[in-house]
Amino acid sequence: MSVTAAASGFVVLLLTVTVVQGEDDWGVRCTPTQICAVKGSKVQIRCSYWHPSRIDGHDVAVEKEFWFTKVQDSEPVDLRSASEYTGRVKYDCGNKACTLTITDLRDSDSDVYQFRFTTNHPTGSLTGLPGVSLSVTGVQVLTTKLSACKTDDCSWSRVECQTSCPPTPSPSYIWFKSGQKTSGEKSYTAYFHSADSISCAVRGHEDFPSAPVCVDGNSCNRVNYINRNICAFKGSSVDISCSYSSYYKRITSKSWLVAERKDVQLHRPQAVDLLKDPEFTARVQVLDPEPGRSTLRIMNLRLSDSAQYRFTFKSQWFEWERSFPGTTLTVTDPDVQVICSPIGPTLTCHSSCLLSGRPSFVWFKNGREVHGETSPTFRGFLHPENNYSCAYEHHHSSPVYAPKVPLVQLSQPGDILKDSSVSLTCSSDANPPPAYTWYKENQTLLNRAAQLVFRSIPLSDSGEYYCTAENELGKTTSKRVLINVKYAPKPPSVSVSPSGEIMEGSSVTLTCSSDANPAANYTWYKEDEDSPTASGQIFTITNITAEHGGKYQCEAQNTHGRSNTTLHLTVGAVSPGSWRSALIGSAAAVFLAVTLLSVFLLIR
Ligand SMILES: *[C@@H]1O[C@H](CO)[C@@H](O)[C@H](O)[C@H]1NC(C)=O
Repeated sequence: MSVTAAASGFVVLLLTVTVVQGEDDWGVRCTPTQICAVKGSKVQIRCSYWHPSRIDGHDVAVEKEFWFTKVQDSEPVDLRSASEYTGRVKYDCGNKACTLTITDLRDSDSDVYQFRFTTNHPTGSLTGLPGVSLSVTGVQVLTTKLSACKTDDCSWSRVECQTSCPPTPSPSYIWFKSGQKTSGEKSYTAYFHSADSISCAVRGHEDFPSAPVCVDGNSCNRVNYINRNICAFKGSSVDISCSYSSYYKRITSKSWLVAERKDVQLHRPQAVDLLKDPEFTARVQVLDPEPGRSTLRIMNLRLSDSAQYRFTFKSQWFEWERSFPGTTLTVTDPDVQVICSPIGPTLTCHSSCLLSGRPSFVWFKNGREVHGETSPTFRGFLHPENNYSCAYEHHHSSPVYAPKVPLVQLSQPGDILKDSSVSLTCSSDANPPPAYTWYKENQTLLNRAAQLVFRSIPLSDSGEYYCTAENELGKTTSKRVLINVKYAPKPPSVSVSPSGEIMEGSSVTLTCSSDANPAANYTWYKEDEDSPTASGQIFTITNITAEHGGKYQCEAQNTHGRSNTTLHLTVGAVSPGSWRSALIGSAAAVFLAVTLLSVFLLIR
């Protein structure tokens, strides 16, 4: 079943119609299939897939979902373990669909991205073909001076927004004239003042405009950010820098602002000078190392500092537009990602913050540093008993470890009664979070979830149960728990021994048996007698006399209820005409049968 499906719905349809029968049960569909995205921005690719739920009587379960662009030793390399993408890729999977997000796009990300899923079925793996083609483009403005104005501080010029691929979905452009947003086509012709700078962006990627350029001359008003994306760890400090120039030489004020913060709860007015913002004043510094350059330093970073930071300046005649996109800061903690590969799990110290320079990682096993492990991927042997964590630039991740032995919890204490509803819950401490599976006795797979629910438990569900917890680092099995379904006694059956006629002076043994859980206790009553005649399953009467004749009742009882059966004992005299006794004996048997039948009907 080496199935291939295409990324576009149309081609999938084509395949399912023409390709070998059965393959329409398997498929991958991704949208969009052609993407042109702007450098520095992020892109999302979504693939959904389907597969048969059962094959040859076995449940099909998905084991892995991932994207790849490269194949190494005939195995696709999970994007998350490719060093070029460290810290920039994220998967969001669920409900048979996965979304891949690649942030801070680079030119080298232009490639064909293929989605693959594998299942527990030996041949049940599928790669979505032909994949999703991503092109990453820079944005720049091409200016052409058509003619000079009468005064020499302006020009009649044509500006064109250039990208190396047609931006998707539909190309539409945004222009920033001296930082101020205007709308426009891909290109336009207008008068430009020598003070004007021009920058363009692709709609949908407004935060990633081209570097502003002067249309005429070289001394226009402009602000150019050194980085459009910066990432930093919580607690660390970060420098955000820009270069700027002013056409009117006397700058009256400069400030750094914060915009588009994620925590809207603060209700802060947008674009407040950070030096005056109570949340920042103590933590920020503005450095002006040289004319035309400004650096904002934020110290002791908080996760809530993730936002866009902008620079603005004012001169006597001009103010740089506060809405012109600045540098987006992301504050994070590092974390360890566990990635399955054909050679077993591998650990990657993931961080959306790869600071410039040679990143140096530190790995820890059970909290103790592993010397010599400095790469983002841990190369040592992984033992399921250990826990692993990493640190990057002195920022620690939380540890990852295989599941601890799972605990099983029953929904309620005490006996489980037939037809009651009951559930078993499996729980284990693990990171990444484990997947749970429930089994009965001889590895009969029951459920792939933490909870096993019986809505109305039948007797046949009695037995031993256990669960497993599994993550990428290992698998553990719980203790077995016994489910013993209890029930009240069924109507007992009574046997008489010896069978046949009962004669005076002989002995007879009555045996009562009832199906019950827990086992029933038995009590015998004779008609017209208040107190029990005997107790126990077997009741023997020796040296029978005529007084022993009559109705007897056997009652079976356990903690969940009781049930009884009546029989008639007839004692024959030792006298001629033994045919009469025999007749009475058989009458008794008929009576017993009728009683049993009526009790049975009554119960029904
Ligand atoms: C990791 O191992 C260390 C040392 O054995 C232990 O102190 C720590 O509690 C472990 N962490 C977890 C989450 O198991």
